[in-house]
Amino acid sequence: MADTTIKVRESGPYLITGDVTLTDCDGNPYPFSGTAALCRCGGSQTKPFCDGTHKTNGFSAVERATVAEAQ
Ligand code: FES
Repeated sequence: MADTTIKVRESGPYLITGDVTLTDCDGNPYPFSGTAALCRCGGSQTKPFCDGTHKTNGFSAVERATVAEAQ
């Protein structure tokens, strides 16, 4: 079982918990430990991290996982 989880927050960021190396486009690591909240609304001033802007910019996303039926 994976030691890393990614949780989709309703109308909010992706929460990543676990042992992850997050790098920029040049391969330089972003330092964080434990849990990171990654922006998916596009409004954060601290990308790739969430800064809470999604609460005020009207971002709405309510994706739910679907479960495939057994055949
Ligand atoms: S998801 Fe929080 S600022 Fe974008």
